[in-house]
Amino acid sequence: MIKRIGVLTSGGDAPGMNAAIRAVVRAGIDFGLEVYAIYNGYLGMYEGDIERMYRKSVSDKLRLGGTFLGTARLPEFDQEEVRLKAIENLKHFDIDGIVCIGGDGTYHGAMALAEMGVPTVGIPGTIDNDIRGTDYTIGFDTALNTAVECVDKLRDTSTSHHRCSIIEVMGRNCGDLALWTAIAVGAEYVITAETGYKPDELIDSICKAAKTKTHAIIIVAEKLVDINELAKKVTDETPFEARTSVLGHIQRGGKPSARDRVIASEMGYKAVEALVNGEIGTCVCIKNDKIITTPIKEALEGVNDLEEKYRVFRIINK
Ligand code: F6P
Repeated sequence: MIKRIGVLTSGGDAPGMNAAIRAVVRAGIDFGLEVYAIYNGYLGMYEGDIERMYRKSVSDKLRLGGTFLGTARLPEFDQEEVRLKAIENLKHFDIDGIVCIGGDGTYHGAMALAEMGVPTVGIPGTIDNDIRGTDYTIGFDTALNTAVECVDKLRDTSTSHHRCSIIEVMGRNCGDLALWTAIAVGAEYVITAETGYKPDELIDSICKAAKTKTHAIIIVAEKLVDINELAKKVTDETPFEARTSVLGHIQRGGKPSARDRVIASEMGYKAVEALVNGEIGTCVCIKNDKIITTPIKEALEGVNDLEEKYRVFRIINK
């Protein structure tokens, strides 16, 4: 029977993580548990940076971006001796269950801990939306809205100057943020790992746009092509002069959207319920609007199928 649980955020921060932490703390207390903050992800577990939290510890956190617990990337956590020291610290606080909020790196850490007997449950917190077992990860909606707002602004200036804006968005290896942004802003072309890049097709679509429009937008998923070289190609081979923008970490900041707050709150509750029910090495997912849990290993498997969304994008943006 679990009595004390810890909660941590790890990897890249995402808007809505604070809402998830808040839900874990309050649900935990409602289940009769003591809840502990583990600061800075697995680093805090390794260093013993752990502290008890109360209902009030999470007051006024729901609407804040980032994560008030702090976060870190700790590649060394794949070493057994590092995990053993972290587990020692958990024992010192009598913590017998952990909620790990983050993306795939966080999930691999949670799985490794579960294999060593520590009950862990994951919550998907990443702007990348790259956990296949869940339809949405916490932070994706806010990041998408930020990207759309930035591209709308870039469109104003590219329209005035009759230019083509080439915009790189984040997403690591996942094209969701790029494709959803491209649909939401009515871009002329999108380049993602899943949908590919055909140079001739891109030039054709920009030349076609130049016949009826005073601007063009190309969205590129993170680091998939050299956008400066692409800008030169567009400038040389189409009527538009091109300019580039990398949106970068701005996409990770800001107040979480209402959708991210709601999903985070529901997922936080579900994670605690899963720990109380004795689940080990599972994670919370949203599938067809239902909050469920799935083994982490399964949630990380599978390919990203963007085919249908991309088909719609091409039909309505040609
Ligand atoms: O996973 C979230 C993310 O923002 C990715 O989109 C990006 O590739 C990466 O983190 C950037 O990491 P860092 O903040 O460590 O540079």
